[in-house]
Amino acid sequence: MIVAGERVLDMTTSDPPFAIITGASRGIGAEYARVLAGQGYDLLLVARDEERLTQLSHELETNQSIHAHVCVLDLAQPQSAHQLFVVARNYRLTPDLLINNAGFGLYGEFVSHSLPRIQEMLHLHIQTVVESTRLFLPGMIERGSGAIINVSSIAGMLPMPYLAEYAATKAFLNSFSEALAEETQSTGVHIQACCPGQTETDFHASAGFQPSSPISMQTASQVVRVSLAALQKNQTVVTIGWQGTLWSLLTNWVPKKILMKEIIRKIRPPLGLAQK
Ligand SMILES: NC(=O)c1ccc[n+]([C@@H]2O[C@H](COP(=O)([O-])OP(=O)(O)OC[C@H]3O[C@@H](n4cnc5c(N)ncnc54)[C@H](OP(=O)(O)O)[C@@H]3O)[C@@H](O)[C@H]2O)c1
Repeated sequence: MIVAGERVLDMTTSDPPFAIITGASRGIGAEYARVLAGQGYDLLLVARDEERLTQLSHELETNQSIHAHVCVLDLAQPQSAHQLFVVARNYRLTPDLLINNAGFGLYGEFVSHSLPRIQEMLHLHIQTVVESTRLFLPGMIERGSGAIINVSSIAGMLPMPYLAEYAATKAFLNSFSEALAEETQSTGVHIQACCPGQTETDFHASAGFQPSSPISMQTASQVVRVSLAALQKNQTVVTIGWQGTLWSLLTNWVPKKILMKEIIRKIRPPLGLAQK
């Protein structure tokens, strides 16, 4: 674990707001970083790719007068949430905003996915998010303010053949976020499950599949704008654009079996797809 840009702990109330963003090296996470830096947030940028994180940190510190600290950490490893908590405490006892965004897709038949890769996904999408929330939330409640955004997916609204574990972990995130939002309702802390649809990032290439339709693609900038605006309104489950609204309607009103058949028709992998 490498931490760059150490700053002396400053407990005065005039501190700028502070956000921790996981998966900040690219895609949606990097976009959250750019937008929040523009709003004057100091940042802790977390991911594995040190070069990209450092580049982004320099970009943000040069263009905005903020501190963007870098934390190189594999969040799919045991103890990583605790390591993140320890690193974050070097900067501020309690972040104003924690964005659990790091994630990846696994496409294809469940039995073709390697067990270590599945375990990595379960750890990154579930274990680390739950542990980080358990570590950071009490400080927010005690202070009476703060927010946690869990970047989930519209895939979490329906069982998805050929994205089975991915959709199931995102369903967990939606359920977890909604339940916590109720528990924390009167504490001044907001919990959000941000549910993007297909978004233009490296996500699909790393997961090994093509987005189903270019028409329904969203941009990372659109996702972040909607998510942060929804935080102001304390919305818990946030979908993006007309695609998100349509998907919510379909998953609420159309029988699961029918939707799943349509998904199979659209995304069933060709025979002989390589093991991941
Ligand atoms: N793009 C879409 O269509 C879409 C749709 C719905 C939801 N989402 C969700 O949006 C979130 C961000 O995805 P994206 O679209 O921005 O994809 P992306 O461009 O591939 O970015 C994924 C980010 O997660 C980080 N990450 C992956 N594994 C990690 C690990 N083990 N430890 C620490 N960081 C890790 C990556 O950083 P390093 O590789 O540097 O570690 C990267 O910063 C994910 O949770 C994804 O499920 C995406």
